[in-house]
Amino acid sequence: MRLLVLNGPSLNLLGEREPGVYGQETWDEIAARLARSAAKFGVELAFDQHNSEGGLIDALQRERRSVQGVILNPGAYTHYSYALRDAIAAVALPVIEVHLSLPEARERFRHRSVIAAACIGRIAGFGALSYELALEAFVRRAGAAEVTEE
Ligand code: DQA
Repeated sequence: MRLLVLNGPSLNLLGEREPGVYGQETWDEIAARLARSAAKFGVELAFDQHNSEGGLIDALQRERRSVQGVILNPGAYTHYSYALRDAIAAVALPVIEVHLSLPEARERFRHRSVIAAACIGRIAGFGALSYELALEAFVRRAGAAEVTEE
């Protein structure tokens, strides 16, 4: 299984960006750990990050036939990007929405996700662990599918 880990705006600045909210770890540190977990599961990960809405949509379209799922943290686009929501529906890939913080416990504008309805699930509030849990969800979901098919 190959998965795309796709991050939205300013997630490249993890470690220096509001560390009280998003933690002290850099994205490179988080990604390295995630890659090690993926290797243990026999999963291949592709990593990408874009600050622009179009960049995220282009990445989904470009990778749509080369991955079996997407771990997506759309950053603030979560809350208002209908274009991203439509792109997720268009590529018809299973997408798990992840957040480091718990948006519902923060400012009101973060309480709504316009992309959640196009995703298969959502993991939020566990810091960097949110990505690990999404990876495990994909692995266990694939395992469950194999058992059902037997
Ligand atoms: C975030 C939450 C969003 O509300 C925010 O705009 C981000 C990060 C998170 O991972 O907690 O950029 O997606």
